[in-house]
Amino acid sequence: MVDLHSHVLFEIDDGAQSIEHSIEILKRAYDAGIRKMMATPHFTIGEDVDEFIERRTRRIDALKKAMDEEGIDIELKAGCEVYITDELYNEDELDKLLFEGSRVMLSEFKYHSLKPEVFLGYVDELIKRNVTVLVAHPERYSYLMKDGWLLESLLNREVILQVNAISLFEDSQEGDFARFLVENRLARVIGSDIHHPASRRLKAMKKLGESNEGYIRRAMRDMPGKIFEGEL
Ligand SMILES: [Fe+2]
Repeated sequence: MVDLHSHVLFEIDDGAQSIEHSIEILKRAYDAGIRKMMATPHFTIGEDVDEFIERRTRRIDALKKAMDEEGIDIELKAGCEVYITDELYNEDELDKLLFEGSRVMLSEFKYHSLKPEVFLGYVDELIKRNVTVLVAHPERYSYLMKDGWLLESLLNREVILQVNAISLFEDSQEGDFARFLVENRLARVIGSDIHHPASRRLKAMKKLGESNEGYIRRAMRDMPGKIFEGEL
């Protein structure tokens, strides 16, 4: 499996808090069947891009070295989860925030009360800059749940939706929306959004990874695989 959404890097956001936690996450990810992983620490548009990239590079390098020593056979690439703000229109270094070797950006938006025209304005700006938008956990956006027109407008723009595996097991509105998106093939990527070693999120990935449903397999292997390899 390929996981495009993870907070596996240590001491950079609210994910892994030490390199030992990072290693523990990676061991559990391997056990869940994940062989390729995009490290996607949080970044908020408006922050210093170069300073962030430098911090991320130091951690990726250290983690890869530790993975070699531990014999963990997961291919790790650098990305980030970009929280989109109005500063987007002033940011001229977007290319540094894409997944390594691709034009895809894992993009996160305000969870509540974001006006549809503002959301679509952000997406159109990203598309204008030749970015392929991968929307992180759309099931969390309460306004998207209620607005079929916005959902359709996003899909018409060929935005890719990434649902969190754990959401598919939740007995909540979020869970219902996540299942709706995946079962109707509207969400084409499932990722872990793992933050902590002990979290149930990797168990959810493992359980889904054992599914015989074609659309689950495509959302955990084929589509994320293409994105990981820079084919999209
Ligand atoms: Fe995340």
